[in-house]
Amino acid sequence: MDKLIPEPRKVTLKASDLRGILEYVPLYQNQTFIISIDGSVIACDNFSDIITDIAVLRSLGINVVLVYGIGYQIQREAAVRGVKISDVHGTNPVDDSTLELAKEVSAWLAQTIIDAFATRNVNSVCTNAVRATEVGIISGVDYLNAGRVEKVEFSVLGNLLNMGIIPVISPVAVNSQGRLYRINSDSLAADMATGLGASKLIYMTETRGLMLGDERAVAFPLDDVKRILKEREPLVDPRVLSKVKCAITALEAGRTPRAHILDGRDFACLLTELFDKVGCATMIYADEYQKIRRAVSGDVPQIFNMTSLSVKMQNLVYRSREEIAKNISSYFVYEMDASLIAVVSLQDIGDGCAELASLFVLPFYHGNGVGKKMVEYVKMKARSRGFKKLYSLSTKSAPFFTNACGFTEVLPEELPKKRYEKYVKSRRHSKVFVFNL
Ligand SMILES: CC(C)(COP(=O)(O)OP(=O)(O)OC[C@H]1O[C@@H](n2cnc3c(N)ncnc32)[C@H](O)[C@@H]1OP(=O)(O)O)[C@@H](O)C(=O)NCCC(=O)NCCS
Repeated sequence: MDKLIPEPRKVTLKASDLRGILEYVPLYQNQTFIISIDGSVIACDNFSDIITDIAVLRSLGINVVLVYGIGYQIQREAAVRGVKISDVHGTNPVDDSTLELAKEVSAWLAQTIIDAFATRNVNSVCTNAVRATEVGIISGVDYLNAGRVEKVEFSVLGNLLNMGIIPVISPVAVNSQGRLYRINSDSLAADMATGLGASKLIYMTETRGLMLGDERAVAFPLDDVKRILKEREPLVDPRVLSKVKCAITALEAGRTPRAHILDGRDFACLLTELFDKVGCATMIYADEYQKIRRAVSGDVPQIFNMTSLSVKMQNLVYRSREEIAKNISSYFVYEMDASLIAVVSLQDIGDGCAELASLFVLPFYHGNGVGKKMVEYVKMKARSRGFKKLYSLSTKSAPFFTNACGFTEVLPEELPKKRYEKYVKSRRHSKVFVFNL
């Protein structure tokens, strides 16, 4: 079996690389980073250096929200006191005595973190901005006091960040009736990243990130990481696995483009990862497709206007507002500066086949790779939904599909039966293309 957790190594930041470092500063200014620190990292010697590094980030105008874990301390206190616990990380049923310990160590760690920031002249507060709710019963198992995030007062966190204060988020929170729940800190951090639209979600743990054999996975697109997990999940260190899964959730939500998993025991790991071109951790990125998202009902008017424009040019088939609204979940849009510049839809046409339809890029943006990105995105979605073939029909853009997107022209009769009947009825005589997924 592959060795997944090699010894940590010492990393040092090169002072001579100051010019390179300064390049990043304007890039990161006013952005929000969610930093999630495992309890085991808080307990290690490097913790005070991490606090110094976070103070440096703050001084550069970067907003930081700190989430902390308590698993290590729960385990240690349970051993010292001889208390039997039902869960360490908030992912299993949490009984009353485990919750009692969680409450105690969480309060103690919050104080430790706030005190550590105070020694660096950084203001921080532990807030009750997170409202919890129960995990409930899953597959017949009652998760007791295990909780998940119900709601976060993001405006409170935003106000604190505007005042230069670091919010410190506890993995123990109450519901609206004041009942306490233990929340897993990895998923809590991912929820924070999505809610605040953080540009980075950073997990600090006691491993070197995602390992591929003896090699650390340095920078990976989201899809590759999902594939790696599919093929090698049992080989991945459970601490890393939980973080990778939460990072995937956050990146897929579309508001956070990058997640990092780094070894909190390494000196200057945070600054090295952020300001050194190579970095020292595993980075998962979703940048390439970050601007593409599933359409929501609020997009209907813009989609209608865009596609109507193309209908006039006889590129696309007319679809009414009502029709678009009814099928809104099959549309994907490309968003730039809060307005839509491209649209595409993915439809199930039976026999294990899908159709890429309604592809339209606003003329002003033609030739910038947007159309191709939309097609690649739809291929990826179709593949993940198990379709075998992706069809597309076009009256005017044949070379785009064949030359740029790898489709092959086929006879219309090759379409699945029902779709072929519709094709004949439409009398558009579009060319038919197929891509084997
Ligand atoms: C077809 C369309 C989606 C292409 O969008 P785009 O963002 O301009 O395309 P890209 O920039 O991603 O182009 C990728 C490549 O395809 C080529 N290409 C784009 N449109 C092309 C066309 N109509 N014919 C031939 N090649 C084309 C580009 O030159 C580019 O080539 P390169 O990779 O060698 O540089 C866009 O022109 C459009 O919205 N057309 C009207 C609607 C339509 O016809 N939809 C298709 C039917 S569903």
